[in-house]
Amino acid sequence: MKVYRLSTAFCLFIFGKPTAMIRISKLASSIQPSATIAAGAKARELRAAGITVYDFSLGEPDFNTPQHICDAADAAIRKGQTHYTPTSGTAEARKAVAQWYGRYHGLDVGPENVILSNGAKQSIHNTLAAIVGPGEDVIIPAPYWVSYSDLVKMTGANVVLVETTLDTGFKMTPDQLRAAITPQTRILMLNSPCNPTGTVYSRAELEALADVYLEHTDGAILSDEIYEQLIYGGAKSTCVATLRPQLKERTITVSGASKAYAMTGWRMGWAVAPAPLVKAMDTIQSQETSCPSSVSQAALIAALNGPQEPVAEMLKEFTARRELVLNRLKTIPGVRPAPADGAFYAFFEVSSYFGKSFGGKPVSDSLSFCAALLEQAHVNLVPGSAFGCEGFVRMSFATSQSVIETGLTQLAEWLAGGK
Ligand SMILES: Cc1ncc(COP(=O)(O)O)c(C=O)c1O
Repeated sequence: MKVYRLSTAFCLFIFGKPTAMIRISKLASSIQPSATIAAGAKARELRAAGITVYDFSLGEPDFNTPQHICDAADAAIRKGQTHYTPTSGTAEARKAVAQWYGRYHGLDVGPENVILSNGAKQSIHNTLAAIVGPGEDVIIPAPYWVSYSDLVKMTGANVVLVETTLDTGFKMTPDQLRAAITPQTRILMLNSPCNPTGTVYSRAELEALADVYLEHTDGAILSDEIYEQLIYGGAKSTCVATLRPQLKERTITVSGASKAYAMTGWRMGWAVAPAPLVKAMDTIQSQETSCPSSVSQAALIAALNGPQEPVAEMLKEFTARRELVLNRLKTIPGVRPAPADGAFYAFFEVSSYFGKSFGGKPVSDSLSFCAALLEQAHVNLVPGSAFGCEGFVRMSFATSQSVIETGLTQLAEWLAGGK
C-alpha cells in the first residue's frame, strides 16, 4: 500500500500535477526546529528588506578563526589530507584532544577515550543514541540549551526537567537532583558554563551533585563543557569527570572548538568517555556521517597544540562586552539579569513587561515579547521559553560593543513605550 502511494506521488510530481503529500515521520513531527537558528533567520529576512537589525540571537563568536589554525587547514589540503579518516578521527587529532585534557584539567585519558564529531551537537546526539532509548529518563536542569530536549526526544527517552530559578543562580540543588532520580534514570545532563544562563557551578557544588548522583543511580553523566574557556571574574570551570575517581568511568565529557577558537563552521566537537562507550559511538557515527572533516581535524590540532593567545584576546573582548551588557541592563527598569559568569550570553527577566502593549501589540510571554521587539525596535533576542524558562530572554554578546550599545538603547526606549 505504502509503495503504491509513494509512486503515485512521484508520478504526479513528474507530470507537474498536484502531488499527494509525503507523510512526515512521527520523529520529525515531534521535534522543534532550533529556536536560535529560527530567530537568526527572521533577522536575516528583515535585513534583506534593508532594515538594520541589532541581532543578539546567535550563539557564535563574531571573530574569525585565528590565522595559524586556518594555515594548518590550508597545509592539510595541499598535502592531500582530503580523504575519509578513521570514524572517530585521526590518531593525531584524538591524541591532541586527550593531551589537552591532561594539560587543562589534569584528566588522564588517551586517544582511545576520544571520538571527534561534526560539532559538539553530534557528540551529544551520539552519546544519547549510544546510551538511552524509549522508557528511560534523562535529567536536564532548566533552563537548558535549546537542542538538549529535542535530541533526547529523538531517542524516544523521557526528558525529566529540573526547574531552577534566578534566585538560586539557576543552579540545581542536590535535593532537587535526588528528587528527580528514578529507577529509569540513565543520564544526567550538565552544562557549566551554561547556555543560556551563563551559570558556572563551583567545584564544591558539582561535588555535592555528583555525590547524590553516585549514591542513588548507576546512570551516566553527560557533561557539556563547551564554554569551559570562556569564564569571567573569579569563576572557574570544572571538568566533571575529575570530581570523583568513579566519575571517570561514568562521565561523557562533551566539548568542541566552536566557541573558544571561533570555529563554528569547521564543525569540530568531541566526546571523551570510557573506551567501550567510544566504540559504541564510533559504530553509530560510522553509519551516520562516516567521520568528521579531515581538514577540520588538521585545524583542530593547530587550535589545541598551537599558541593560545588568540583565545585570551577573544576572552578579553568578551569580558569587556559582558561588563557593558550587565551594567547597561541594570539601569533598565524591571529587567533582572543573571550574573553571566561564563559563556557569552546575558539571560534576563522581562516578565514585568508582560500584560503591556507595545505599538498596539499585546505582549504576554517571552515569545510575543521577542516578536514585537524584533518587529518594532529591530532588536533580536531569543525567548526564554525556547530554553524551558518563561519570563526571560537571552541576549548573545558575541557581537561588537557598538552594536551592543545601540541595541540596548533601542531596547530601553522600546520598553519605556510599553503601556
Ligand atoms: C551548550 C552548547 N552545547 C553544544 C553546542 C554545539 O556546538 P557545536 O555543535 O557548534 O560544536 C552549543 C552551540 O551553541 C551550545 O551552546
